[in-house]
Amino acid sequence: MPFRRASLGVDIGSNSIKVVELAYRSQGPVILNAGITGPLADNTAETASNALRELVSQKRFRTKRAVATVRATAEGSATARRIFIEHATADMKKSELKERVEWEAITRDYIPFPAEEAIIDCYVLGEATPENVPGLWVFFVAVRKELVKERVDILKSADLIPVAIEIDLSAILGLLNYMDMFSEDEDTVVIDLGAAKTAIGIIYRGQFNFYREIAVAGNHIASQIERRLKIKRQDAEKYKYTEDLFERVADGTAEIWRAASPIEPVIEERQGLYPQIRECFRFYEGDVDNARLSKVLFLGGTSLLNNLDNFLAQRLAIPVERVHFLDHIPLADNGNASEIEGKESVFATAVGLALKPFRMK
Ligand SMILES: Nc1ncnc2c1ncn2[C@@H]1O[C@H](COP(=O)(O)OP(=O)(O)OP(=O)(O)O)[C@@H](O)[C@H]1O
Ligand SMILES: [Mg+2]
Repeated sequence: MPFRRASLGVDIGSNSIKVVELAYRSQGPVILNAGITGPLADNTAETASNALRELVSQKRFRTKRAVATVRATAEGSATARRIFIEHATADMKKSELKERVEWEAITRDYIPFPAEEAIIDCYVLGEATPENVPGLWVFFVAVRKELVKERVDILKSADLIPVAIEIDLSAILGLLNYMDMFSEDEDTVVIDLGAAKTAIGIIYRGQFNFYREIAVAGNHIASQIERRLKIKRQDAEKYKYTEDLFERVADGTAEIWRAASPIEPVIEERQGLYPQIRECFRFYEGDVDNARLSKVLFLGGTSLLNNLDNFLAQRLAIPVERVHFLDHIPLADNGNASEIEGKESVFATAVGLALKPFRMK
């Protein structure tokens, strides 16, 4: 089996599909090949299948074994949250725990679709005794089966072999754990700012403790620029890449970062990006005992907006670091994956997906 120790990560985003091929060598994984499609015209499975097929035939990947993303909370078709199971213990059998979690999620109406259509997974966060009742905090994820099937079909239509399907932020978590990015007793925020959504995870001891999606991201920023400056959509897209959309202004004796006027509402208003991220922080700090949010790890195409990292760092009063993985997982010197350079934020999820078969060992 010549290429058994290689795999593809296929990140089917709402804006584009990113594919990364990893090979596992004795010194660790290496990126053999990578590619990205142009902007997808819509979010149908047919458009994704056609675009992926074309990319796969252009890039001539060596392996067919692929791991893809599932759209996490696409139109209420998935959910992920912390849940407390009274009188459960960490040494409980996984099957028994899963049953309890499922029952709890159904009775509390946490699954936004019929439970028989769900694939449910859960993992233990830790034992606790809130309000004098002992039990277990568990993180649970429920995804609609048809979403997973849709992704499997897209892979097969491009002549790939589906190995696993994973929520995009959990692929990122796999990559960040591989890179050893989390300190033991701190809560780390991971923000994936894409085109249609911003996914926020808070990680404690290497596992999710919180997950939420915000429906404000690159598309909304572009449409606000388009409306406010009365320019074409494609010019608004270019504007995002080239202009300074955040500025430093005097505030008494200090200087603060704020959003420049073309994008101010989409960033600053109540339903804008910044207040919604802040609300996640507040919710978490209120919900989790002794929460210590230590830093934000930042990725996704829109994280590349000039100075958005500085803006968030100052306004949320927390260090914000863009994710860089090339020091840990280098490019092979064949030149096939050079597209990743300068765009690590865009390819990080695909790298995390491609790592999964390696992580499963
Ligand atoms: N250098 C850049 N500067 C500003 N914005 C950028 C840059 N590169 C990409 N973007 C924006 O990032 C978005 C695409 O990011 P990404 O590829 O992470 O999204 P996606 O995974 O397809 O979407 P989603 O995760 O929301 O489904 C687009 O809105 C694009 O305009
Ligand atoms: Mg994405």
